[in-house]
Amino acid sequence: MKTFTANALTLAALASRVTAFPAMAMDALTEPLQADLLTKRQTAAAPQGVGALPLVPPPFDPELQYVSNKGKYKFVPPGPGDARGECPGLNALANHNYLPHNGRATIQQFITATETGFGMAQDLGGFLAIYGAIVDGYLTGWSINGGPHIGIGGSHNNYEGDSSPLKSDLNQYGNNGLLVRDQFYSLYNRQPDAATANYNLEVLRDFRKERYYESIAKNPYFSYTPFSGIEVSQAAFTFIYRFMANKSAEAPEGILNKDTLKAFMAVYGDDEENLHWKRGWERFPDNFYKRHPTDEYSIVYCRFTPYPPTDYSPQANIPRPVQTDILYFAETVPEVLGLGCNHGAVNTFNTIDPETLSNGAYTAQQVAESPLCFASEFAKVEIPLITGLSDILVAPLLSKLADLTGSMNCASIGSVNQSALTACPGFSLYGGPTGTKAKGAITNGIL
Ligand code: HEM
Repeated sequence: MKTFTANALTLAALASRVTAFPAMAMDALTEPLQADLLTKRQTAAAPQGVGALPLVPPPFDPELQYVSNKGKYKFVPPGPGDARGECPGLNALANHNYLPHNGRATIQQFITATETGFGMAQDLGGFLAIYGAIVDGYLTGWSINGGPHIGIGGSHNNYEGDSSPLKSDLNQYGNNGLLVRDQFYSLYNRQPDAATANYNLEVLRDFRKERYYESIAKNPYFSYTPFSGIEVSQAAFTFIYRFMANKSAEAPEGILNKDTLKAFMAVYGDDEENLHWKRGWERFPDNFYKRHPTDEYSIVYCRFTPYPPTDYSPQANIPRPVQTDILYFAETVPEVLGLGCNHGAVNTFNTIDPETLSNGAYTAQQVAESPLCFASEFAKVEIPLITGLSDILVAPLLSKLADLTGSMNCASIGSVNQSALTACPGFSLYGGPTGTKAKGAITNGIL
């Protein structure tokens, strides 16, 4: 029955495309190919992971989706004075001339580069870039490393946070941009067979759970907060598959294999047991195909919403601001929707009730239903406090946040109960890319 439903869905979606693109549909030459692809898909698990969206594969167009790493986009490693930080996507864009090579760019340059290189939708790129410029940059732009109020390397607990996938926790290592050996191999070894390896959302959510508990067990100042925790930290995991996966006709959602993961994560070598990391040397692999323009990863992602979907017809593909991937992670790792921190020693993690933090505006149940609402409303209240900037200067960012949550009818948070956060010693440790290494921190080697 399930198979039949999936077939019917795929056919319905194709049928809808036939109406939308009659010229394409009339091309009898493509029909055998499509039938072949359909058969392949019906027998294979969804590349993005069981239960993850999209239900219907996006289109694939090699001309629109190819990302060049040749000619003016050839790889040039960073030189002295070039900023490279904890974000592998931005580092790769700077190494291939999609961003200025020195790693410092304007809001518009970030929006254009993330869309050109990865298919990040302009609403998401715009939000991330504006947030960087106002909260952790110099208002018109920012550095992909830098320091406090210059770039995201110095944005600890505003933007960059703990329990990242491969990069070090700031106060565990005294640095937030190192690639930790055990973290890398924990992810890498989850797909032992290079021929079938695919680091999809299903793989990543298991890895996410491990990293959360690892930070509790090893970082005395681990702190997991509404914006840098619930929202940004999850994105750091979902971006790995959603952006780094290589799209193709066979798997338009993308496959993220070992070589592609290594290229984007600046990991080099053929000796599988002794791979090594070259800091800042992230690269676009050959023959890389990004997301299709009609399937960009946006704030309103995803194809077929709301989540879980109630209406499976193609007509239900109406973008709404949902947090599909965060909720997908929370299905098996509900911890990612909680808040809390260690109290200056490992394994002293206490949760913080969102109702207390938001002065009654959000219960834990409401956060579980709409984590994006909670995180964004929290950020709105916090921005003037953490930046100390005037209303006029923060207005563009607040307006972007309003766009983000506008159609979700989010309950607003009148004020944040700051005393709930003072219970977290790590929360006030703003800064980076280097910082205090906490007493009692447990560290592992760097790759
Ligand atoms: C303007 C756009 C972007 C901004 C402001 C941004 C910012 C950040 C920040 C602050 C972090 C640290 C998160 C943490 O502490 O866990 C991060 C990590 C990350 N970003 Fe980006 N990013 C952007 C675009 C991208 C793109 C296009 C990709 C595509 C691959 C990407 C992939 C990642 C990944 C995979 C990580 C996790 C790194 C790790 O710990 O292993 N980002 N980014």
